[in-house]
Amino acid sequence: MKITFYGHSCALIETNGTHLLIDPFLTGNPLAPISAEDIHADYILLSHGHGDHYGDTEAIAKRTGATVIGNYEVVTYAQKNGVEKIHPMNCGGSFSFPFGRLKMTIAHHSSTMPDGSSGGVPCGLLLYLEGKVIYHAGDTALFKDMTLIGEEGLDFAILPIGDNFTMGIQDAARAVEFLSPHYVLPIHYNTFGYIVQDPNAFGKAVSAHSPECEVVILDPGQSIAL
Ligand code: NI
Ligand code: MN
Repeated sequence: MKITFYGHSCALIETNGTHLLIDPFLTGNPLAPISAEDIHADYILLSHGHGDHYGDTEAIAKRTGATVIGNYEVVTYAQKNGVEKIHPMNCGGSFSFPFGRLKMTIAHHSSTMPDGSSGGVPCGLLLYLEGKVIYHAGDTALFKDMTLIGEEGLDFAILPIGDNFTMGIQDAARAVEFLSPHYVLPIHYNTFGYIVQDPNAFGKAVSAHSPECEVVILDPGQSIAL
């Protein structure tokens, strides 16, 4: 399996030849190393409705025929805007897809669609792929129930560290304590002026409290094999 970071919260997971694209905000993302016209997706997974996550969902889904997965409000919005293949879910629910199992977890944040309509509740994404467990937290504050997610035995966690809109470095390092993943990838930083952070400071905070966890800092466009 391969995980590629595309800046902000966008990640591509390639598993058994299937491309799972998470939160594809590329157009307007100053960190994006690839355009919405050039990226491939079989499924688009959305944590919530904000524009910096929903991003290029419609254009990519229409071009590739990808199925859009997210909470009910988010995917019906996509459908209303011309996306043909959708799969509605909601917080706490899981489903076995051809690529593996996906559970939508709680996230403490907000969720409004780009036109201001309701995006339902924000979610995190817990993926069971090839015997490994991967957690993309979406946008969230720190919450103690992350320990329940950690009990799943996480191989890889993808956590926001930008502060202001989500967890900052100290809370994200706390989240690593609750989640105890083998690897953690920091995201949702340095895209805008509000969320400027040094990922190496996050690395130091994690090493201090969770030395068994390896911090993976990827520049946009870089990948890690899992
Ligand atoms: Ni958000
Ligand atoms: Mn965001």
